[in-house]
Amino acid sequence: MHYSRLTSVVVGTGFIGPVHVEGIRRLGIRVKGILGSTPAKTARARQHLGLEMEYEDIDAIIADPEVDAIHLAVPNVLHYPMAKKALLGGKHVMCEKPLAMNSQETTELVKLAKESGLVAAVTYNIRFYPLNMEARQRVQEGAVGNIYSVVGSYVQDWLLYDTDYNWRVLAEHGGPLRAVSDIGTHWMDLITSITGLKIVEVFADLHIVHPLRKRPLGEVETFSGKMTKAQSYEEVEINTEDCGSILFRFENGAKGVLWVSQVMAGCKNNVSYQIAGSQQSLQWDSARPNELWVGHRSSPNQIVVKDPSLVSELARTYIDYPGQHNEGFPDSFKQCFRSFYNAILEHGEVDYPTFKEGHYEVALCDAILESHRRQAWTRVDA
Ligand SMILES: NC(=O)c1ccc[n+]([C@@H]2O[C@H](COP(=O)([O-])OP(=O)(O)OC[C@H]3O[C@@H](n4cnc5c(N)ncnc54)[C@H](O)[C@@H]3O)[C@@H](O)[C@H]2O)c1
Repeated sequence: MHYSRLTSVVVGTGFIGPVHVEGIRRLGIRVKGILGSTPAKTARARQHLGLEMEYEDIDAIIADPEVDAIHLAVPNVLHYPMAKKALLGGKHVMCEKPLAMNSQETTELVKLAKESGLVAAVTYNIRFYPLNMEARQRVQEGAVGNIYSVVGSYVQDWLLYDTDYNWRVLAEHGGPLRAVSDIGTHWMDLITSITGLKIVEVFADLHIVHPLRKRPLGEVETFSGKMTKAQSYEEVEINTEDCGSILFRFENGAKGVLWVSQVMAGCKNNVSYQIAGSQQSLQWDSARPNELWVGHRSSPNQIVVKDPSLVSELARTYIDYPGQHNEGFPDSFKQCFRSFYNAILEHGEVDYPTFKEGHYEVALCDAILESHRRQAWTRVDA
């Protein structure tokens, strides 16, 4: 069976739903249809994306025998009910991050996924930049040595002003944490996937810069607030963090720190890390995703570029173009989806982020929230 025999549907017509449609199609998989929050949005997206079907609701997708997999690209509060329905309805699921609103929900989803035997994945796409796979290979084959420390940040500026608004700022739609669960979990997933090390304790200090935000009257999709300015607003109280720092203790004794912010002017979407080991250190920055900096103590430092002839076999698996033909954000989704569909087809490379890993990220968020509230080191209960 080949990709072209599979059929998928995407739920969500905002920022990332269409990214899913593009990524799936680039693999040669049919995207049959789409579902948005209203019939008008569904119709607009179907037309814009050139799809066949407008679905009425998630039940209609589940009832469609042609559909093999459902991609969930909707606000976080909808992940748990929709993923649960999809699994109970016999569909493979690719769910956006974070997997759910809390670890009770994610525990149930992990159990359901296991019992169903279906492929259940979380869209931690940043792992799939080829040079992050190269970093993983170098750490795991021992070239970097014992890991001493991991530091980094994930910073954005799209929520800088108090007039910037999105469903994420409200705990009832996005969960009790915002910057940490929205972008911090990407960083933590990336670091744990590269190092293979679990974070066992956290100490968090989070900050709400805007305790009041001005909500435009009408729905606002992600990043669109930077392009359009609303004329009328209502004030809403905000109880999710705009930024914060988290200290980590890893299972091998290594130390770490993450700075996360959605209010850092000029930083559109910057993910970066420095991993320091006993032999080498590694640095990567999403602003230059096709370069990996390798630091040496006793010889000149190196920059590894994304060229299939210069990287490990693992990284090469995730490269589709020759050197200096840059691969970036949309490619990382395509590679993540390829791994997911390979698992469904039971062929090729299979290394997708599982619901179990999605659960671990949400358990980390629970510990981070508790640590911030107690202002104390807190153990991760995964
Ligand atoms: N992996 C990544 O890099 C990445 C990037 C952005 C967003 N995300 C995740 O994707 C999800 C969506 O985020 P976004 O930025 O696209 O948000 P968005 O606000 O731009 O879009 C959300 C979409 O969901 C639709 N929706 C709301 N309720 C619905 C319902 N009941 N049925 C069907 N559709 C419904 C809305 O109409 C909207 O089209 C979030 O969980 C977010 O964390 C992941």
